[in-house]
Amino acid sequence: MSIFGNLEKYQHSIRFHTPGHKGRMEHEPIGLAYIDMTELKDTDCLHRPQGVIDQAQKRIADVYKVAESRMLVNGSSGGLLASIMASFSPKDKVLLPRGSHLSVYHGLMLQDIEPVYVYPDASLPAEAGTIRLEDILAAEQKHALAGLIVTYPTYLGTCADIAKIAVWAQDNAKILLVDEAHGAHLALCEDYPIAAERTGADIVVQSTHKMLSSLTQSAVLHIASNKVDRAKLDLYLRLFQSSSPSYLLLASLEEAINYAAKNAREAFATIAKSREMFSRMLAGERFELWQPKGIYDPAKWVIFLRDKGLEGREVLRQLSEKNIEMEYGADNFVLAYCGIGTTKDDIIKLSHALNDIEPNKKNATIQSKYSYPPATARMSMKEAVAQKSAYLSVQQSAGHISADFVVPYPPGIPLLVPGEVISDEIAKMMVCFNQRGQTVLGVHGGEVKVIQ
Ligand SMILES: Cc1ncc(COP(=O)(O)O)c(C=O)c1O
Repeated sequence: MSIFGNLEKYQHSIRFHTPGHKGRMEHEPIGLAYIDMTELKDTDCLHRPQGVIDQAQKRIADVYKVAESRMLVNGSSGGLLASIMASFSPKDKVLLPRGSHLSVYHGLMLQDIEPVYVYPDASLPAEAGTIRLEDILAAEQKHALAGLIVTYPTYLGTCADIAKIAVWAQDNAKILLVDEAHGAHLALCEDYPIAAERTGADIVVQSTHKMLSSLTQSAVLHIASNKVDRAKLDLYLRLFQSSSPSYLLLASLEEAINYAAKNAREAFATIAKSREMFSRMLAGERFELWQPKGIYDPAKWVIFLRDKGLEGREVLRQLSEKNIEMEYGADNFVLAYCGIGTTKDDIIKLSHALNDIEPNKKNATIQSKYSYPPATARMSMKEAVAQKSAYLSVQQSAGHISADFVVPYPPGIPLLVPGEVISDEIAKMMVCFNQRGQTVLGVHGGEVKVIQ
């Protein structure tokens, strides 16, 4: 029986266990209290699964054709933290694209890993976050790498040649962790880029909530090779996940994967076909559906704004007035994420709404930067966050060492990580972001945290 089925068994029970609503709707008005459970005889325990959760994890591993899977209740973030801690040792050198997700940096910081970055040489969003085998070979000449962490696909849908990279990693006995947060659908559909878990990667982490239909924060981790120390991984999963894992998330995750196993192939084939229709329906002189040159995920649609009177955030605002919400809007493009729940009708409505957007000449198009000047690390992230720090205005920050992550949005790539020197160029960029009113994580009221 499923996790959900076992939760339903208890719906009329008189509860003297947590949570405090005791399954009564009047105390939990959203209406989910009856299946919001704790560890009981038939509900199993995520941290020591022997019953329904164990069975669900085995079914997930079957669906994804991997050795073992773990259900996650703290998103891919928790899975990535645990994978990094379990796979690498302090002072190991690990290669990653500078455009990696913050949770990857957090893992590197906690384990005191020495990152070796691949900086994308691009003003195009496409390149941010990808990595090529040539980059890896060049880095290997200079550093004795313990392994690498690849984001696949990137947020914008571009894909590294993961099969080639996995072969290299296996041949050279390097650990390959794959942040497949945006790719839980890949293994389940046809004519999409190959899923990393099929290539010989060691651990693959997927946010099933992003492209499939499980509730936000649910995710899965796949152990895809026999190099992984499972006991160590499970120890860290216990560390980075709540000791009261949500049964709503677990049940939703199990059901969503069952649903995807049956329906993802057709749903994503429809999306790939609709992509061409959508592209034809767009007013070509104003919008262009980006067709990346290399491998890409056809479910992620980067729509470039060719009309100079358009600006991404303004497009988002006007679409929102028409009850259409997009994933993201940058200076010169907007991003539509299709998922297992996307319908053809949604896509037609989006194309009509885009074609009806009014230009807003006041906002001149500014080209976002997707690559920042390489920063020099003076100490490790772990050392840096342990130091005494103080806030300093960005204007005065040049020459100091950052005590925090400084991450401009868009596109969410760190300009600085803790321990890196704030160069004149980087200080000027922070001043510029501040003047433009751009959101920059790590800059508060025009001030940045530096080591004293
Ligand atoms: C590339 C990438 N990795 C990891 C994550 C973290 O995933 P989650 O939100 O499931 O913790 C995200 C979230 O946006 C992401 O974009």
